Amino acid sequence: MKRGDTTDDRLEMQTWRPQSVLWLLFIVAACSLLFVCNILEIRTYTIKTAYFLQSSPRVQEELSMKGFFIRTPGCTIPEMRAMDDSIKKYIFMEKSVLCNNGTPPLIDSNRTSIYLLESSLEYYNLNDTEQLTCCYQEFHRVAPGQSKDDRVDFGKECVPFEVWTDIEHEFIRVKCFHNRSMIYKDFFSFVPARNASNVGKEKLNVLIVGIDAVSRLNLHRQMPETVRFMKELKSYEMMGYNKVGDNTFPNLIPALTGMSEDELQRTCWNASTHFDECPFVWKDFKDSGRLTGFGEDSAWMGLFYYTKKGFRRQPTDYFWDHFDMTAEKEIGNMHRLNVDQCVGARLVHKVFLDYISKFAETMRVNRLPYFGFFWGASLTHDFLNKPKLGDRDYVDFLKMLNASGTLDDTVLVLMSDHGIRWGEIRSTYQGRMEERLPFLYLRFPESFAKRNPLAINNLRTNVRRLTTPYDLHETLLDLVDPKKLRDDSIQERNVSNQTTRRAYSLFDKITTNRSCESAGISAHWCTCQTSEKVDVGDQVVQEAANHTVNEINELLVGYADCVYLELEEVLDATVQINTDVIMQGTQNQDYTITFRTRPSAAVFEATVRRIFLPTNEYHFNVTGTVSRINLYGKQSLCITDFHLKLYCYCKQYISNNNNNINPIID
Ligand SMILES: *[C@@H]1O[C@H](CO)[C@@H](O)[C@H](O)[C@H]1NC(C)=O
Ligand SMILES: *[C@@H]1O[C@H](CO)[C@@H](O)[C@H](O)[C@H]1NC(C)=O
Ligand SMILES: *[C@@H]1O[C@H](CO)[C@@H](O)[C@H](O)[C@H]1NC(C)=O
Ligand SMILES: *[C@@H]1O[C@H](CO)[C@@H](O)[C@H](O)[C@H]1NC(C)=O
Ligand SMILES: *[C@@H]1O[C@H](CO)[C@@H](O)[C@H](O)[C@H]1NC(C)=O
Ligand SMILES: *[C@@H]1O[C@H](CO)[C@@H](O)[C@H](O)[C@H]1NC(C)=O
Ligand SMILES: *[C@@H]1O[C@H](CO)[C@@H](O)[C@H](O)[C@H]1NC(C)=O
Ligand SMILES: *[C@@H]1O[C@H](CO)[C@@H](O)[C@H](O)[C@H]1NC(C)=O
Ligand SMILES: *[C@@H]1O[C@H](CO)[C@@H](O)[C@H](O)[C@H]1NC(C)=O
Ligand SMILES: *[C@@H]1O[C@H](CO)[C@@H](O)[C@H](O)[C@H]1NC(C)=O
Ligand SMILES: *[C@@H]1O[C@H](CO)[C@@H](O)[C@H](O)[C@H]1NC(C)=O
Repeated sequence: MKRGDTTDDRLEMQTWRPQSVLWLLFIVAACSLLFVCNILEIRTYTIKTAYFLQSSPRVQEELSMKGFFIRTPGCTIPEMRAMDDSIKKYIFMEKSVLCNNGTPPLIDSNRTSIYLLESSLEYYNLNDTEQLTCCYQEFHRVAPGQSKDDRVDFGKECVPFEVWTDIEHEFIRVKCFHNRSMIYKDFFSFVPARNASNVGKEKLNVLIVGIDAVSRLNLHRQMPETVRFMKELKSYEMMGYNKVGDNTFPNLIPALTGMSEDELQRTCWNASTHFDECPFVWKDFKDSGRLTGFGEDSAWMGLFYYTKKGFRRQPTDYFWDHFDMTAEKEIGNMHRLNVDQCVGARLVHKVFLDYISKFAETMRVNRLPYFGFFWGASLTHDFLNKPKLGDRDYVDFLKMLNASGTLDDTVLVLMSDHGIRWGEIRSTYQGRMEERLPFLYLRFPESFAKRNPLAINNLRTNVRRLTTPYDLHETLLDLVDPKKLRDDSIQERNVSNQTTRRAYSLFDKITTNRSCESAGISAHWCTCQTSEKVDVGDQVVQEAANHTVNEINELLVGYADCVYLELEEVLDATVQINTDVIMQGTQNQDYTITFRTRPSAAVFEATVRRIFLPTNEYHFNVTGTVSRINLYGKQSLCITDFHLKLYCYCKQYISNNNNNINPIID
C-alpha cells in the first residue's frame, strides 16, 4: 500500500543491511547448488520469501513501523508528514530582516580583536579614518544582591584605538565619534581563555545548542539544509521526544536538573529567590574539571529571567545573558512581537552563533574541556516560518564546528523545547501534535561510538521510543563520566528491572511498554495513542475494512488470474485514541482491523487511518502494508510477485470450489 513520503531519519535502516546481504548470499549459494532453483523466477521468489521470513528483528520492526513514528506496546505515535495537506497552507516565506535600514557595521570582531571596516566608511559619510575616533569600554555583570540579576557595570575608561586592537575583556561597548559627536555604537563579546582551577583529564566536551519553539517536523520543513547536514554527520534524531510542560521553562528545567518545575520549587527555588541552590547539570561538569558556559539571546525573556530573578552568583564560567540584555537594550532594533531581531547592524541570532563559535574555538585552541549550553530564541520564538531564514546560518555554524575539529572530541546536542505554541496551525490536529514533539539530535565523535558500541546501539533503539527531557538529563549525567558508558558498565546497570523509572539514560534501552504515564508526561502533553476495542459491526470499522479490501483489489489490477476479493467479515477492531481529550474530536484515528475476505478465506490485518477533512468528512488511508495472518498455501501459485502472493486468489480455484486448500508453508 502506498504511503506519503516520509521525512524521518532512516538511519536505522542502515544497520540491518549487512545481515540481509549475508542472507541473500547464503540463499543464492544454496540455490545454485540446487537443481530446482535453476529457473530464475523460482529463485527470485525464494530469495524474496526467505528474505522476508528470515529478516532480522530489526527489519521486521522497521516494517511494522511503517506509518508510525513510534509503535510500541506502551506508545503509538502516528507518522505525520512535514508537508501534510492540513499544514501546507500555513507555510510561506517570511520576508528577510533588514537591520539598521541596511547600513552595515563600521566595526567588526573576530575571536581576539576588533577592527574597523574601511569599506563601511562611506555609509557614515566619512572619507577617511583621520576624521574618526573610536574607543572601547569594558563591562561586566555585577552580583545583584537580593534584587533581580540584570545589572552590569561599565569600566571607567573608554580606551581609544585605531584601525584594530586585541581585546582581553569578555564584553565591550564601542563608540565612535566624528567632530565630537557620537556616530556609532556597537557591542562585542569574547571568550578569553581561562585557567580552569582544576582542569580534569576527561577531554570529552558537551555542546548543547537549542533553537526555541521548533517541532521536529517544522525543522524538516524550515531548515532542510540543517537536517541534511545533521544526517551527514551521522547524528541520531529522536523520533518520540515528547515535551513535558507548556513552555520553555518546564521543558528545560527537567533537561538541566532532572526535576519537574514543581519538584524544583520544592527543592531549591521559588519565585522570590534566585536559582543558585539548584542542582544544574553544569555543576556536575564543573566538578569533573570542565569549564562551563551558558548563554541565551533574547535574554530579557531567558530561562531564568522572564518573571524570574536569575542568579546571585554567576552560575557558569562563561555567562552571556548580560551581554545580550545590555546590547539589546542599547542598540536593539527591528522589534517584532517578543524579540529584537537585530542588535545594531547584525541579526541577533548571528551574533549569538558567532559567540558560540568563539567559545568552541577558544576551548579547542587552548585544549580546555567544557560543557556549554546555548539557547537561541530570537530567530524562532514567535513565528512558524522564521526558522527558514536561519537555515543557512545554522548550517554554516555546524560546518565550522565540524571543519575545525571541534566535533572530534565534542558531543553535540541540537534541540528544541516544544513546537510553535500559537497561530493558526495550532487549530489543526497535526499542529497540536507538533507542539508537543520538539526535535532532538545527538551526535557523537567517532571515537566515542567506537569505544561504547552497546551504549550507541541502545541509543539507536531509543530513536524509536518515547523519550523526554528527563531522559536527556540522565544522558548528560552519563557524559560527565563517559567511562560509565563502556559495554560492561552498561550491561551491569541493566535497567530492565526498573520498568517504572521516570527517566532513562538514552544509553540504556528503554522498555517498549513505556507509556506517557510512566515517563512523567501528563495526559495533556501526551502524543501517544492507546488502543481501545471497537465493535466489529461499527459503521466506521466496516467502511475501513471495505476500503482496505478495495485497496487490495487495486493492487491486483492487471493480474487477470486473481479474482476480485470481497469483505466477508470483520473479526476484530481496535481504535487508537489520544489520551488528551482536547486532541480528540476531529483528530485522525488509526483503526487496526482484522477481517476475512471471500472467496479466499484470507485473514488480513491492517491499520487504516481515518483522515478528517476540514469539512468534517473523512477518508481512509492504509498505513504500511496489509498483513496476511493465515497461510495462503497454493492459492496464489498463479503469480510470482512476492508482494502480491499474500493477496491473490487464483481463479482456477474458484471452479474447484473449495476454501480448504492444503496449506503449504511458504
Ligand atoms: C583578528 O583580526 C586581527 C586584525 O585583523 C588579526 O591581526 C588577528 O590575527 C585576527 N585573529 C584571528 C584569530 O583571526
Ligand atoms: C571628504 O568629503 C567631504 C564631503 O563630505 C569633501 O568636502 C572633502 O573634500 C573630502 N575630503 C577628501 C580628502 O576626500
Ligand atoms: C563640527 O561641528 C560643529 C558644531 O558642532 C560645526 O559647526 C562644524 O561645521 C562641524 N565640522 C564639520 C567638519 O562637520
Ligand atoms: C594560567 O596558568 C599559567 C600556568 O599555571 C600561569 O602562568 C598563568 O598566569 C595563568 N593565567 C591566568 C589568567 O590565571
Ligand atoms: C521562598 O524560599 C525561601 C527560601 O527557601 C523562603 O524563605 C520563602 O519563604 C519562600 N517564599 C515563598 C513565597 O514560598
Ligand atoms: C567534517 O569534517 C571532516 C574533516 O574536515 C570532513 O572530512 C568531513 O567530510 C566533514 N563532514 C561533513 C558531513 O561535512
Ligand atoms: C537484563 O536483565 C534482564 C532480566 O532482568 C535479562 O533478561 C536481560 O538479558 C539483561 N540484559 C543484559 C544486556 O544483560
Ligand atoms: C536492578 O537494578 C538495581 C539498581 O540499578 C541493580 O543494582 C541490580 O543489580 C539490578 N538487578 C538486576 C537483576 O539486574
Ligand atoms: C512493563 O513490562 C514489565 C515486564 O516486562 C512489567 O513488569 C512492567 O510492569 C510493565 N510496565 C508497564 C508500565 O506496563
Ligand atoms: C462495503 O462494500 C460493499 C460492496 O462494495 C457494499 O455493499 C457495502 O455497503 C459496503 N459497506 C460499507 C459499510 O460501506
Ligand atoms: C493517503 O494520504 C495521503 C495524504 O494524506 C493522500 O495524498 C493520499 O491520496 C491518500 N491515499 C488514499 C488512497 O487515500
